[in-house]
Amino acid sequence: MKRILSCMQPTNRLQLGNYLGALRNWVALQDEGQDENGSANECLYGVVDLHAITVPHNREALANSTRETAAAYIAAGVDPDRSYIFAQSAVPAHAQLAWLFTATTPMGWLDRMTQFKEKAGKNKERASAGLYSYPILMAADILVYKATHVPVGDDQKQHLELARDIASSFNEKFNGGEEFFPQPEPVITGAATRVMSLRDGTQKMSKSAESDMTRINLTDDADTISKKIKKAKTDAGVVPSNDKECEGRPEVANLIGIYAALSDQTKEQVMAEFGGQQFGVFKPALADLAVEKLSPITNRMNELMADPAEIDAILRAGADKANELAQPTVDETMKLMGFWS
Ligand code: TYM
Repeated sequence: MKRILSCMQPTNRLQLGNYLGALRNWVALQDEGQDENGSANECLYGVVDLHAITVPHNREALANSTRETAAAYIAAGVDPDRSYIFAQSAVPAHAQLAWLFTATTPMGWLDRMTQFKEKAGKNKERASAGLYSYPILMAADILVYKATHVPVGDDQKQHLELARDIASSFNEKFNGGEEFFPQPEPVITGAATRVMSLRDGTQKMSKSAESDMTRINLTDDADTISKKIKKAKTDAGVVPSNDKECEGRPEVANLIGIYAALSDQTKEQVMAEFGGQQFGVFKPALADLAVEKLSPITNRMNELMADPAEIDAILRAGADKANELAQPTVDETMKLMGFWS
């Protein structure tokens, strides 16, 4: 049996990249090999609220963002009867294992992480120590469940490699080279593993980017989605017919990728259909498709958010199961490291 683990931060609203790069694949893995005996895979999907405090956060909004993120998972098709949805802060084993790893991971491994450099920018001195050691907590999120597969967008690849290094180094140092932590496999699939900003094709679409016009939020209504796509940056040319015609046109290539992912086609199929046409034809088609695919998710999220007690009950049940799976890993890890118990 595969054990699937993945997480999102409850910072701001989820955007299209979160959905196409990750969430959709979470649902596919949950449904993979499903028969009358249940799911073939055991899936755990966390809302990583401890990660969210590594940048200044809004105390009043945190709990609600956690609920909203859980609601987005469910609205997109994660079924709380088959997958476990939980808040990271409700499972103390994550932070415990993170400390054991923090104390034994070389600084040099963290120095290589490009996301810290991007997020801290010129303000490295003021960035929190948590933002720097964040990839260690992420490794703990994964390894505390001995997860075998981790579905994520392309931007998390380097963090996954670190998790693999931490696992092998632990096995080497504390378990005589035998496997205690398995090597988690990244699952990075689909036509949109890296969705870019609608205004600048060299920047990743992100929930924390300043301008809302750069992204499609899962909470946007149909008019807003259409407006953002119609205003998305393109150029004076026509829709490309092949990869070569996408070269040097990152915004255009991005829209093709989004269309392909939303319509479950390859980019080649999309270019075969629209190649040579004006963006005045392609953009409305993309806007209609995005509205058709995203509106049901937005509507369901709104319904779920109207009943926060129900979401809290789902998060509580998920945390019970997550604690049951995670705590023994910390206990065994401590034993292997030689702690008194
Ligand atoms: P986060 O919260 O930034 O994003 C959640 C997921 O969405 C993917 N994603 C994207 N995919 C394609 N295009 C984009 N523009 C885009 N933006 C975001 C991310 O790759 C991710 O899969 N460190 C993680 C959260 C995390 C985690 C974990 C993930 C913490 N612990 C353990 C997996 C396993 C993060 O900040 O993701």
